[in-house]
Amino acid sequence: MAQQVLQELQTQVNTDLIKSYETLKTQFHLSDSKLCEAVEYALLNGGKRIRPLLHRIVSQMLGAAVEDAKVCELALECIHAYSLIHDDLPSMDNDELRRGLPTVHIAFDEATAILAGDALQSLAFEWIAEAKLSSKADVKRAQLVSTLARSAGLRGMCLGQSLDLDGTNKKIDIDALIRLHAHKTGALLKASVLMAINISDQLPPSTTDVLAEYADAIGIAFQIQDDILDVTATTGILGKPQGSDEFLNKSTFVTHYGLEGAKLELEKKRDQAMNCLHQLNFDTEELEAFTDFMVSRKY
Ligand code: IPE
Ligand code: IPE
Ligand code: MG
Ligand code: MG
Ligand code: MG
Repeated sequence: MAQQVLQELQTQVNTDLIKSYETLKTQFHLSDSKLCEAVEYALLNGGKRIRPLLHRIVSQMLGAAVEDAKVCELALECIHAYSLIHDDLPSMDNDELRRGLPTVHIAFDEATAILAGDALQSLAFEWIAEAKLSSKADVKRAQLVSTLARSAGLRGMCLGQSLDLDGTNKKIDIDALIRLHAHKTGALLKASVLMAINISDQLPPSTTDVLAEYADAIGIAFQIQDDILDVTATTGILGKPQGSDEFLNKSTFVTHYGLEGAKLELEKKRDQAMNCLHQLNFDTEELEAFTDFMVSRKY
């Protein structure tokens, strides 16, 4: 599949996400407030929509209903947007630029940024609990909540963020680095795949195992590329401050392996991911294009 076709799907997913948010706003009677403005600033101002895109591709591959996938996509992006707001806070990475715009605590204030993150997290679960779903997915709501909550919290992204902060100003071994990346970034990417499995017909365990291994591989690969771009890209292209990791003395794949070594590790993870796809009895053309995009992205 050409990268251009993937880009068209990405644009479609973004359009659908914005429409889903409008539906949510009407359904939940959200009124204008500073907090709502901050939530919308974080959620609607761009982003690559990687997690919704991955969820859409896997859902389509497995034959799930697109209307069900759209519900999960918004919930996933709410958690992601919340994680970015908090990641940029002065007590975390202390970054002032995100997606080419001032971060939420700069555009608003720190307290509003904390609350906007909190509100986005709750919104994700309110939405899964209350959005319209097909009868097939309706009975999976508890599973969807469980998958997303695990990936976001103490066994997922939050744990990873804490390991990231603990790994600052010190050298950690490779197992600790992989654990850090798998949680802070991998967990939510994996949830994108697992929620697609949740809303699809029952699959043999061998297939879900391969999909889970694929998700783990691209989760690590995505953060390796993020670490590489922190060194090699420019702030203008990234839309976030280049060199933030180095400035904060973070433990990354680049500090561990050097730039060339990190690129080799990225290549290995890509191969592992592609190898998983070759084992699946589905048309994996879109997922192959997605995998290539994940490892070759420039921002
Ligand atoms: C950035 O995620 C944070 C990481 C987990 C590395 P993305 O690169 O997906 O950020 P946006 O949503 O496209 O801005
Ligand atoms: C953040 O990792 C991951 C999450 C937001 C959970 P980074 O700190 O490397 O992300 P960027 O580089 O600021 O986007
Ligand atoms: Mg960070
Ligand atoms: Mg950061
Ligand atoms: Mg980074």
